[in-house]
Amino acid sequence: MKLKDKVAVITGAGSGLGRAIALRFAQEGARIVIAELNEAGAEETLKQVHAKGTEAFAVTTDVSDTQSVSRLFKAIDDRGWPVDIIVNNAGNAGNLTPLHEVTDEQWHSVVEVHLSGTFYCSREAIKRMLVQGRGGAVINLGSVAGLRGLPGGASYTAAKGAIIAFTKGVAQEYASLGIRVNAIAPGWVETPILENLPDEMRPMMTTMTPLGRIGKPEEVAAVALFLASDESSYVIGQTISPNGGMHT
Ligand SMILES: NC(=O)c1ccc[n+]([C@@H]2O[C@H](COP(=O)([O-])OP(=O)(O)OC[C@H]3O[C@@H](n4cnc5c(N)ncnc54)[C@H](O)[C@@H]3O)[C@@H](O)[C@H]2O)c1
Repeated sequence: MKLKDKVAVITGAGSGLGRAIALRFAQEGARIVIAELNEAGAEETLKQVHAKGTEAFAVTTDVSDTQSVSRLFKAIDDRGWPVDIIVNNAGNAGNLTPLHEVTDEQWHSVVEVHLSGTFYCSREAIKRMLVQGRGGAVINLGSVAGLRGLPGGASYTAAKGAIIAFTKGVAQEYASLGIRVNAIAPGWVETPILENLPDEMRPMMTTMTPLGRIGKPEEVAAVALFLASDESSYVIGQTISPNGGMHT
């Protein structure tokens, strides 16, 4: 049990990668907090996590809203649970609008969820880790888009690139205090987020991937487990990219 006695807060855990990470962490003994906007998705994850025999609860949260994030962490405090691990995973696919047609609203809706959400949740989690004095792990979801750029979706690419830079900087602030901050930058992974992209893009996803297939959520959850556990005790400020061999 690699996460015994740990509490992990996972944003966007009602679907895809967040759910897979919640289930993998639960299997390793962690208590799970599901911070999710979609209540039905959160309920389903909660059911599956409970089936693993671990304690968990869900808090309806919009990570792009600082007050909603404050309420999430208050709910954790009210339960008397510590925060050992935060996985900043909540996100949306944004849009593939060419940059010259992107509206201010489209831009902000992507940047607020991905980048500001990562900031709000990291800030609250790190505050608690500092008081607890037993270190912690912050895991931010970037994307290959943030490493190599992808045409279309400038707001998504920019937000993911910024999350990777945020990870590097914040990692250096807290390394000496035992709080390790790292990022995961997945390639194409089979989750509902891909349903928001045009079907014509699917052949391109496999062509871009030397392994010749789209990834599975469990293959990203395995990387998250590594970064959350003591196995990665000397890994700080890094971005690991499970991407089937894609050049980044
Ligand atoms: N699947 C991929 O190919 C892929 C590749 C690279 C990066 N990512 C990143 O991985 C993360 C998870 O994506 P996924 O593929 O599991 O997608 P998904 O759509 O299956 O899950 C995303 C979850 O985030 C939740 N969410 C969205 N906005 C939210 C908000 N404001 N507050 C709280 N929750 C919110 C959604 O309700 C959903 O449950 C995202 O950050 C995404 O950008 C995914």
